[in-house]
Amino acid sequence: MTTPNKVKIVEVAPRDGLQNEKQFIPTNVKVELIDRLTQAGFSNIEATSFVSPKWVPQMADGAEVMAAINRRPGTLYSVLAPNMRGFDAALAAGADEIVIFGAASEAFSQANINCSIAESIARFEPVAEAVKAAGLRLRGSISCALGCPYQGEVEIASVVDVARRYLALGCDEIDVCDTIGVGTPVQVERVMKAVTEIVDPSCIAGHFHDTYGQSLANILASLQAGISIYHASVAGLGGCPYAKGATGNVATEDVLYMLHGMGIETGVDLDAVIDIGQWIAGHLGRKGSSRAGNALAARQAA
Ligand code: HMG
Ligand code: MG
Repeated sequence: MTTPNKVKIVEVAPRDGLQNEKQFIPTNVKVELIDRLTQAGFSNIEATSFVSPKWVPQMADGAEVMAAINRRPGTLYSVLAPNMRGFDAALAAGADEIVIFGAASEAFSQANINCSIAESIARFEPVAEAVKAAGLRLRGSISCALGCPYQGEVEIASVVDVARRYLALGCDEIDVCDTIGVGTPVQVERVMKAVTEIVDPSCIAGHFHDTYGQSLANILASLQAGISIYHASVAGLGGCPYAKGATGNVATEDVLYMLHGMGIETGVDLDAVIDIGQWIAGHLGRKGSSRAGNALAARQAA
């Protein structure tokens, strides 16, 4: 398998990056974050989620955020929707892509969306139908594809099984997610290889959290398996409220530094992303976790 020479980065900071923040982030800051990311050239931004505000209070202002952003033609604004209520809100908000999110682990499915894997797929069926009827894109996320905070190991067969169900629902893109960042490169290679046997590699995304420092290595392993879509979060923001101890997503600045260094095209302006990372980290009152972002910002300041 040859390494792709062009990669799509899905910038997930506005949703996965911010959802776990304890302090409510003002809507205008969320909007400014999305607008700055749009300006930096991302072709896909995960903007918010339409979930229960009791479960994830930080995303309660999803409709206001979507109404206020400045959209750029050519950029897809994706949102999470776990059920028809979420879909209706997402449609009204003008989302371009709806993300359904299930898990390869029964225990995580219960903790995150309060139902079994089979029940989640049944709940997604009407959502998927409605998404297609509305002419929108459908993406399916498979959480805990490389390990689960509750049940530990996750079988590759469980990941492939959810991928197959997502295909049957009509998903345009399927995310293999290392929710708690425990996966290592050879394991990632095996999972990606198994999923690419049933899903076209151009429709698979890698979603890596950096809890154990493995995410860039895991992206490299996925690139070698022909995967050309990666989720990343500016300043390494993120974490899932239902995956205790899991740190942020792989930092966008680090991913861009690596990919551009390998001669892989992303269409994203790294300098602009460095500024955004410093700005949002400052807003949250702490240093961002991007190694490349912090090093390049320090060099600019010198
Ligand atoms: P439930 O309690 O089983 O269901 O939650 P419910 O239907 O009884 O609803 C509970 C309450 O939420 C009700 O309100 C509903 O009306 C309301 P009440 O009657 O108590 O006042 N509700 C909603 N409100 C707004 N929008 C909605 C909605 N649906 C119900 N769409 C449910 C089930 C799925 C709703 C809940 O478990 C939930 O919202 N979970 C969200 C979990 C979540 O967002 N987790 C983080 C994202 S996943 C993630 O981060 C992983 C990922 O990044 C990939 C990776 O890293 O692996 C994607
Ligand atoms: Mg995540």
